[in-house]
Amino acid sequence: MTDPITLNNQFAIPNLATFDAGKGGLTRLTLKSPAATAEVYLHGAHVTRFDPRDQPPVLFMSALSHFQPGKAIRGGVPICFPWFGPKAPDTKTADAQAPAHGFARLMEWNVDSVTALKTGASVVLSLASSPETKTLWPADFSAKYTVTAAEQLTLSLAVTNTGTTPAKFEEALHTYLSIGDIEAVSIEGLANATYLDKMNAATPTPQDDPLIRFTAENDRVYLDTQSACTVRDPALGRQIRIAKTGSHTTVIWNPWIAKAKAMSDFGDSEWPAMVCVETCNVADYAITLAPGATHTLTATIATLR
Ligand code: BG6
Repeated sequence: MTDPITLNNQFAIPNLATFDAGKGGLTRLTLKSPAATAEVYLHGAHVTRFDPRDQPPVLFMSALSHFQPGKAIRGGVPICFPWFGPKAPDTKTADAQAPAHGFARLMEWNVDSVTALKTGASVVLSLASSPETKTLWPADFSAKYTVTAAEQLTLSLAVTNTGTTPAKFEEALHTYLSIGDIEAVSIEGLANATYLDKMNAATPTPQDDPLIRFTAENDRVYLDTQSACTVRDPALGRQIRIAKTGSHTTVIWNPWIAKAKAMSDFGDSEWPAMVCVETCNVADYAITLAPGATHTLTATIATLR
């Protein structure tokens, strides 16, 4: 793990960007500007905090999250790459231990640069294929992740195929949003899309109602959609808009009561306070990159009050 002192010597910007030992001793970057405060762990390139000025947190974090090498952080924005969910059988290697949602959220990313902006700051983190990643996925790749914390949070994941054969992967910016009450929330932006209903054997199902509402566990992969989504949250009196580019699927998830209880790193009563709106390319919308090609997935998260 790169220590915060070395990183501060190289990259710190006084009053704007500093590294320290965060929870569990994991290295954390805090970006603090008049516009917003954000935190990013190098473990998983994981954004765990985005608080625009004078607003409650936009990102949900579980009080029971692990902060430990080898384990995913629960909440914030995990990066799922190069697969989503369990590893598909067609890409299975000898290693049956392939972690859910890929390895990117479990690995330490490097810091490439930290930049002061007019109204905030941004950091570029990177991860490249290594003997360790190749035991799980054979492709040669480099990934650059730019996190910009200003009035909005902008997350941009650029993946380049550095190998000599095509590379196929899934990816998701698995954004956990903090909300007042799941039963009062509605999500707009996916009307008429078809979703794979993971609560019903991934059956393709039309989204007839223009608004998604929550009355039970919800785990859906919306297909062929490039639309922005707006989460309307009457309990907190705000809306969160998630706009995106380079993404053709959106996953909506809330674990509800039983699944929350089954997750050891998620509080039994935390489920009403979160919803995931995941900017992604998954299932039949996986990305295939020719050698040398780059694909960029971007999510922009903004609040309206
Ligand atoms: C969601 C999936 O994106 O992530 C769910 O659609 C899954 O099926 C959830 O349960 C959490 O996954 P994990 O691996 O972080 O527990």
